[in-house]
Parts: sequence; structure tokens; C-alpha cells
Amino acid sequence: MTRILCVASGKGGVGKTTTVINLGAALFHFGQRVLIIDGNVTTPNLSLHLGIAKEKPTLHDVLEGSVSIENAIHLHSSGLMVIPAGISLTNLRKIYKKTIAQAITGIAGRFDWVLIDVPAGLGREARLAIEAANEVVVVTNPELPAAVDALKVSRLAKNLGTSPLGVIVNKFAGEKEEMSPENVAEFVELPLLGVIPYSTLFLKALSAKYPLVLLYPNSTPAVQYKKIAAALLGERYEIIEKPSIIQRIRRFLIRI
Ligand SMILES: Nc1ncnc2c1ncn2[C@@H]1O[C@H](COP(=O)(O)OP(=O)(O)OP(=O)(O)O)[C@@H](O)[C@H]1O
Ligand SMILES: [Mg+2]
Repeated sequence: MTRILCVASGKGGVGKTTTVINLGAALFHFGQRVLIIDGNVTTPNLSLHLGIAKEKPTLHDVLEGSVSIENAIHLHSSGLMVIPAGISLTNLRKIYKKTIAQAITGIAGRFDWVLIDVPAGLGREARLAIEAANEVVVVTNPELPAAVDALKVSRLAKNLGTSPLGVIVNKFAGEKEEMSPENVAEFVELPLLGVIPYSTLFLKALSAKYPLVLLYPNSTPAVQYKKIAAALLGERYEIIEKPSIIQRIRRFLIRI
């Protein structure tokens, strides 16, 4: 069954887009069919992270009703399927006839996972992206202002009927002034899904326009994202990453 999961934070710049891309890449690495969607209609940047900013059509064309959603799915060189949002300012003048939830109804079933990048804030645009999903992963940084907004977005999601799965603490540097990931999780009242360290490899991945998880697969942030993906799949990372021959045969038999 398809899981439609959005990534939200409340506060801007904490790592939502980075998480959508790398969690998507980790699930893809484990053989899952993954679609990632930029739910930022006014300030999109998923396509910039992946170097597909010029590709058309985009989510805007789908919401406007001029293009079917199948045609807005782009295959990234990493293997990820992506629906970008158009970055041009003219998109802001478009009138949308559909919501993201309505737009994805026809295609979601073709994927194991649909991951939606939610815009920052708690306004209408964020709500429309959250409402399109059944579950939400909250991303925050280990500091109070981000944690406060994470708590707000988690409560908003619950009110909208989207279940909060847990929190990812991103950009953790291990400084004594930071909140501990456990304290963050307690503060936002959610299970701790994982901790992603602060790493300059993200800058390199951004410059390469490629998911860090696939570019530096053995790096600590990549392994952390893969552990979160494995947990979402209900598997242990060590087993899913390096399955024994028996487990591989078993999995093959289950698939056919
Ligand atoms: N763990 C990390 N270590 C270092 N840099 C990171 C990490 N995670 C994300 N970044 C960088 O932080 C910046 C913001 O990340 P990102 O764009 O994913 O945040 P966002 O929450 O989607 O922002 P916005 O609210 O503007 O959409 C990017 O330059 C990204 O490469
Ligand atoms: Mg973003």
C-alpha cells in the first residue's frame, strides 16, 4: 500500500527539502518505488537541489489544470521520480483549480512512497501540502526556536488528520549549547526517528545536484538517513543494507 508522507517543520531552513531528497533516496536504495513532490507553490527549491529547475511541466501546470500529473513526473539521473514546482515568478499569478491532494489521487497507487516537501510556516500553502499526506515527519534543528515551530506544525498536522510519525533532529553538531535530540523529542512530544549530523557534505551534494545518500553512501549522514528509512520499512538497517544470501532469496521469492 502506498504511504503518502510529508516532511514539515514550521521554521524555514531546517532541512525539509534535504530530508525529502535523502529519505527518498534511502527508500529508493532499498528497492522502494518513490515519488518526491515539491509542495512549495510560492517558494519552491526541490528542483534547484536536484538541478532540474528548467524541466517542464511542473506541479503548477498540474494544479492549474493544463497538464496531467503523469506528464509532470521527471526521472532524475539518480533514479528518483520527481514532481518539481516551477520556480518562475509568473507561476504566482496562476489560478489553481486543484489541490495537491486532488492532483495525486490518480497516481499515488503506482508508488510505495510519495514524499511531499511542505513549505515553511503554518499558512494555507503548508496546510494544503500537509492535507495531501496521511503521515508527517517533522524536521527540526537542536534549538528552541525551531523546536517550538516543530511542536506547532505537529499539532496542526494532527488537527488536519495527518498523523505525526516522529521527529528528525537535523544539523546536530554535538555542541553543549544545543538541545539534546532526546530533549527535542520530548519537547515536541514525538518519537525520535533519527539524528542527522551537521555536515559540509550536504553542501557538496547540493553543488553536485545529487542526493547525499547516493553520492556518499557510507558517510554518517547517509547511514543515518538509511537507518530512518529502514525503520520506516519496519526492518533493521544492518539486515536490510547487507542481507544474507538466504534473506535475499526469501525477499526475491516474496516479490514474485
Ligand atoms: N545536516 C546538515 N548539515 C549541514 N547543512 C545542511 C544539513 N541539512 C541541510 N543543510 C543545508 O541547509 C540549507 C537548508 O536546507 P533545506 O533547503 O533542506 O531546508 P528547508 O527546511 O527545506 O528550507 P526552506 O524552509 O527554505 O524550504 C541547505 O543549504 C542545505 O544544504
Ligand atoms: Mg525547502
